[in-house]
Amino acid sequence: MRTPLVAGNWKMNKTSTETKIFMEQFVKLLKGQEKSEILICPPYTSLYIVNDFKHNTKIKLGAQDVHWEEEGAFTGKISCNMLIDSGCEYVIIGHSEQRTYFNETDETVNKKLKKALEKNLIPIVCVGETLEQRDANQHKEVVKNQIIQGFKDITDIKSTVIAYEPVWAIGTGRNATPEQAQEMQSFIREIIQQLYGKEIAEQIRILYGGSLKPENAKEIFSQPDIDGGLVGGASLKPESFYQIILAAE
Ligand code: 13P
Repeated sequence: MRTPLVAGNWKMNKTSTETKIFMEQFVKLLKGQEKSEILICPPYTSLYIVNDFKHNTKIKLGAQDVHWEEEGAFTGKISCNMLIDSGCEYVIIGHSEQRTYFNETDETVNKKLKKALEKNLIPIVCVGETLEQRDANQHKEVVKNQIIQGFKDITDIKSTVIAYEPVWAIGTGRNATPEQAQEMQSFIREIIQQLYGKEIAEQIRILYGGSLKPENAKEIFSQPDIDGGLVGGASLKPESFYQIILAAE
């Protein structure tokens, strides 16, 4: 049985003051009996605040990116050790916004993934095609390549999570249909099976991301190969994020 994971990716949203307000409201909604793992990935400046609130709750903490070097002269970057020290257990790698705006490539995804695994941070590796690629019927090929290149030379993927996020569904209000998402997520599981065998493929959690909302989450999460979600906009409000968490149970 794969435990569902519902992760909020706050992107570049919320000051530390806004984070405090969110967390005060959010922890009040939690009953402590939620079956899903709950993850919040705030901006770096809010990591310590979420960390302070997460004690005695089921909330876990993650970051939105990491650098692959141990430490050194890399202005503006953050290391695995810094994230672990701030209370992070998870890190998002290869988000499409990183790929589109900040020159993330499958090669840098691969370096970050190797470092995160070495440090026992749980990576959430994001893959997904653009609208042009889907319209050209290249979506499977694109995602397969992202996985093969991103996971190159990695023999033990430990508890790595994969997030399928079609770029055309991110922040657009246009989610993939449950059937479209399921087709791609079972395809991703097949690729993992080819690379790492059946046992790992059955264990690995594959999340869906892209315009998840309380209204569509239950239907999407009911698909057999969807093990939770990576939520952007709807994770910024305590109530809507909590409704999505409940939809995964
Ligand atoms: P939205 O839920 O805002 O579409 O964002 C999805 C996403 O990119 C999560 O990483």
